Amino acid sequence: MPPTLALKSPCKVNLLLNILGRRPDGFHELETIMHPVALYDDLEFERTGEGVKLTCSDRTLPVDSGNLVHRATTAFLTAAGLSVGIRIHLEKRIPLAAGLGGGSGNAATTLLGLNELFDHPLSADRLSAIASSLGSDIPFFLQTGPALATGRGEIISPLPEFPAMRGSVFVLVHPGFGISTPWSYQNLARFPAALNGQPGRAAKLVTRLQATDLPAAGAEFYNSLEAPALEKFPLLVLFQEFFRGEGAPATLMSGSGSTTFALATDQAHAEGMMERFRSHFGGQYWLTSVPV
Ligand code: C5P
Repeated sequence: MPPTLALKSPCKVNLLLNILGRRPDGFHELETIMHPVALYDDLEFERTGEGVKLTCSDRTLPVDSGNLVHRATTAFLTAAGLSVGIRIHLEKRIPLAAGLGGGSGNAATTLLGLNELFDHPLSADRLSAIASSLGSDIPFFLQTGPALATGRGEIISPLPEFPAMRGSVFVLVHPGFGISTPWSYQNLARFPAALNGQPGRAAKLVTRLQATDLPAAGAEFYNSLEAPALEKFPLLVLFQEFFRGEGAPATLMSGSGSTTFALATDQAHAEGMMERFRSHFGGQYWLTSVPV
């Protein structure tokens, strides 16, 4: 059993986030299509010392039970019946409160990492149950491909890679402020049409993504949570208008925001868009491209 392990912790964008109404438990029923993004935080695990000791490159993040990595570790050790010392270091690169699921990915990667470090005491079903108890987006990150997520986001149906997106490139821009997920959901109440979407958008988009016409698929990208976010932050509308003007076949806010993503048809298209983005909006925004 190796005493240390280093893993990359990915993020995601939502190509679709269709909210279907508020549930009696306070969460929202939804259908979402999530796509992994090869942009990573780093996690290092070591069996040593006593208790759970977490360190993080970002001093603004808590390193106690306020951090999902810490919570995932405690939940794992309890479920596996282990009382051992663990040290974990989290090197953050993915922006926070960005709609990219960085923290959710960290929690899932922690569950997978500890299960590997301790020679797989927990089954895949057990890990999924712990993941969904920690957060709605976390089960998605226990697998590696695109997926349809339903329920409150925790019921995962893996999907094959999408032919329509083959060869394309994600361009991601973070506006420098975060948007809190609870704020987004609470403010959705003011937009009844967005709050009570009709199911079926996901099936339609999956059909389009399985063909090869990217603009036809891009026309079906949709996010209910844009309603409150774009009203409060008009800069995000300007970002999308810019990307559309640059010929991006799709652009959308990811998750509860604040990241906007666009698809570029290839790397040269992505680089041209980013260069013109910087000369149009200035260089202060976090802007990056990642091949799909
Ligand atoms: O599950 P998670 O902890 O990520 O959810 C954070 C918050 O987002 C919840 O407390 C809830 O306010 C909101 N949420 C929701 N419906 C979902 C997912 C999240 O209302 N399906």
